[in-house]
Amino acid sequence: MDRRQFCGSAMAAVTGAAIGRRTGTGLLGGVWGPEAGDATATSGQAASTLRARAAAKGLLFGSAGSQGPLTSDTAYAAAFARECGILTPEAELKWGTLRPSPTTYNFAPGDWLQQWAASNSMLFRGHTLDFWQSVPGWFAKTVNPGNAAQFLQSHIQTVCSHYAGKVHSWDVVNEIIDTGSGRPDGLRNSMWTQLIGPDHIADAFRWAQAADPNALLVLNDFGFEYANADSDARRQAMLALLAKLLGAGVPVQALGLQTHLFAGMTAQFKPAVYQTFLKQVSDMGLKILITEMDVQDRGLPGDTASRDAQIAAIYTQVLTAALANPAVIVVETWGLSDKYSWLQQHAMRSDGMEVRTLPLDDGMQPKAVYNAIGQAFDAAPTRSS
Ligand code: XIL
Repeated sequence: MDRRQFCGSAMAAVTGAAIGRRTGTGLLGGVWGPEAGDATATSGQAASTLRARAAAKGLLFGSAGSQGPLTSDTAYAAAFARECGILTPEAELKWGTLRPSPTTYNFAPGDWLQQWAASNSMLFRGHTLDFWQSVPGWFAKTVNPGNAAQFLQSHIQTVCSHYAGKVHSWDVVNEIIDTGSGRPDGLRNSMWTQLIGPDHIADAFRWAQAADPNALLVLNDFGFEYANADSDARRQAMLALLAKLLGAGVPVQALGLQTHLFAGMTAQFKPAVYQTFLKQVSDMGLKILITEMDVQDRGLPGDTASRDAQIAAIYTQVLTAALANPAVIVVETWGLSDKYSWLQQHAMRSDGMEVRTLPLDDGMQPKAVYNAIGQAFDAAPTRSS
């Protein structure tokens, strides 16, 4: 079964609704997109959801979610099911969760999320196979240059096979650019780079494709948005890496832009610079996914209304620039409600106030960010099939 056939059959069966179909003719024959006739896009009240407004333009909207809050918080779960057409597991498919020991796999949390997504007619993303973080405690004393490639290969083979047919896309390699690493190629000196050498990147994509030929294979990374020396170096390193991988026939099919933004750097966002980068990527035949969008609001005033407006303006600016490129097919935020944003722990404000970064507030009410995302979808050109 090729990817196009798969789209029309298995995914409709998985989701119980015809929300997944292939659109476009990307590098390797198209990618998943929403069904324009998706009932949620056209029926009454649901027409105002972010999911429906995205679907109306051939886009997918979704978010990162975790089993804990989706189980314990019914209001959050209901909002997530209503607003999202695609879900990324925040931790459940990382090594730290999946690999309790060198020889075992704990699929239960990931399976719960995958089934929860499917039962709510949502697509499911794989995140992530080759990453420098979320490393199990046993790793350092067990994995060495002699066995590292075997460890990575069998992990990818086992995990991709387990979810084959149920995954929209895999973040095969995550955060591999680190222009401060001292390496001339700007690659991160992750444990995989140290243990295997830079070929682990190409290998990971090939192993993922062998185990799940239907998933869209994504290279996911952060820090490409600003017109400054750091972002510029990262853009150049990423373009060089993509060119090298594609030149060698490696099945990288999309670039994932995490899009973790900083309110304090807004003046350094220049749409033309960002759009030039996106065009360079799409000219390579790659799709583009915005995978983890949020905004750190340190430095913004505490006042809720003005803070929300400034954060929403950042979403508008970046999404408007991004969605002008038809290769951008997915927009996901890293969490749907501020209540569960990782930034509450990772980017705390000096005034101790809650970070207000995501579409919904703690009470699951839409904020200015929600409207900004919806309006960016409404204004976006329709993706052609
Ligand atoms: C984050 C999670 O949200 C946190 O809960 C965890 O403590 C650290 O990792 N880029 C990524 C994600 O690709 O996997 C990260 O997720 C956020 C940054």
